[in-house]
Amino acid sequence: MVRILGFLVGLVFAGVAVISFFVNLVGNIQSPPEATAEEEYHVHPKALHLQSDGPFGSFDRQQVQRGFQIYKEVCSACHSMKLVAFRDLHELGYSEAEVKAIANQWATEVPSVNPDTGEPATRKATPADHFPAPYANETAARAANNNALPPDLSLMTKARHGGAAYVYSILTGYRNQPTELVKKFPGAKTPQGLHYNPYFANLNIAMPQPLVSDGQVTYAEGNPKPTVDQMAKDVSAFLVWTAEPKLENRHHYGWAVLLFLLVGTVLGYLSYQNIWAEAKRKVAPVGPLDPVNKAKRTRATKKAGVAG
Ligand code: HEC
Repeated sequence: MVRILGFLVGLVFAGVAVISFFVNLVGNIQSPPEATAEEEYHVHPKALHLQSDGPFGSFDRQQVQRGFQIYKEVCSACHSMKLVAFRDLHELGYSEAEVKAIANQWATEVPSVNPDTGEPATRKATPADHFPAPYANETAARAANNNALPPDLSLMTKARHGGAAYVYSILTGYRNQPTELVKKFPGAKTPQGLHYNPYFANLNIAMPQPLVSDGQVTYAEGNPKPTVDQMAKDVSAFLVWTAEPKLENRHHYGWAVLLFLLVGTVLGYLSYQNIWAEAKRKVAPVGPLDPVNKAKRTRATKKAGVAG
């Protein structure tokens, strides 16, 4: 009895599920859901080619240094970079003295404690410190940015689909909101305090355009002109380095390991042949057992009319 009841209850549930599936299906076909502004206007990142791309990629130190300069002079006002330490900059070709000076002159100081009074204080950064965050905490960061939180940039190129190309596209993707968009989707008008950027998932980003004019940052002699496009590329290259400073090692070791495995495979095959040589030796029949000789013999006996 309980079994039958259970079966009936199950049947009712299954029936309701099937009915609601078909009702929804018919509803969807008769009046398909309306397209949203994001679906129509969001675009994928532009192509960006960096020297660090591909299995042979390596960092263009000059470019990554320029990108660091952009981070230092522009982005670090809002974005933290808590996984990178000043001493890591040695890898970009900065000398000991330069790293010391960069840490010492960093715009934000490192939180510390006054040794005499125990009061919270700040001190100058040293090469051993990680880049100090521009805001003391999340609340302060949101309060200064229209309630939006500028994310930590250390791993940004790993955290977003498209990586460096995405960052480059966001930085160069600010524009006026298309009038057709507002006409078609009146509800999708860019709200006060946000900025239209079709590369951002919901089209409206809280970050004001950080790279606005050519020459915003002055590059040292021998570098390309600091156009907005160039600066965006350079800072994206820098963020590839911060997200994976050991990328070059990975590429080198990867190739060495592949070569090792290739040599190992050849050696393995040769020793397999050697070990099995005896067991797999093919014995070719010779003399009276050779099929060719056998056939000859049969023909000859037939011709001679001799019984085999
Ligand atoms: C005035 C403060 C400010 C400056 C300067 C600034 N940003 Fe931002 N940034 C923000 C805020 C706020 C957000 C969060 C945006 C949001 O969630 O809508 C953000 C978000 C981002 C994002 C993440 C977008 C995403 O997909 O979530 C990236 C990447 C970024 N900024 C890169 C940079 C770079 C590179 C620079 C320097 C060239 C820079 N920002 C300078 C405030 C700033």
